[in-house]
Amino acid sequence: MFLGLLLASLPALGSELEARLALADADRGRLLFGPCRTCHYPEAFMGHNTGPNLSGIFGKVAGKQAGFEFYSEGFKAAEFVWTPQLMYAWLENPMAMFPDSRMMSLGVPDAQSRADLIAFLLEATDRDARR
Ligand code: HEC
Repeated sequence: MFLGLLLASLPALGSELEARLALADADRGRLLFGPCRTCHYPEAFMGHNTGPNLSGIFGKVAGKQAGFEFYSEGFKAAEFVWTPQLMYAWLENPMAMFPDSRMMSLGVPDAQSRADLIAFLLEATDRDARR
């Protein structure tokens, strides 16, 4: 049900996120990614850790990365493609969308911090694409 609400609110979130991404600071995002990095690598060559690799995450179907064995049932059953909008909504409160998630994170309640993190992940993906 939460997912339905979330999807219904996406167009509005899109313009809010667009405005925030225009102001986003990827360097600040890299610092904010510190706690995420204990479980996730943003560089493709580092592979998976206790969390799945996050290089090129935008455009991938959630919960389906080859070689990552620890997805929860909720993520395995997910049928959506990660977009900046979805990540922006999900990271506000990850456990609300996937109550059985194995990702032990309280998320990132601050909206501009989420945009900065997304800007960092987009930049990390772009850097990998040019390697
Ligand atoms: C304690 C370890 C841990 C921390 C900290 C953590 N994650 Fe995760 N993350 C996971 C695990 C485990 C999964 C798989 C979740 C599941 O299947 O329930 C995951 C899933 C994800 C996914 C989905 C990947 C996919 O392939 O669909 C994204 C995106 C993500 N995390 C981003 C983040 C961000 C951004 C942060 C920091 C705010 C963060 N994570 C913090 C462990 C962690």
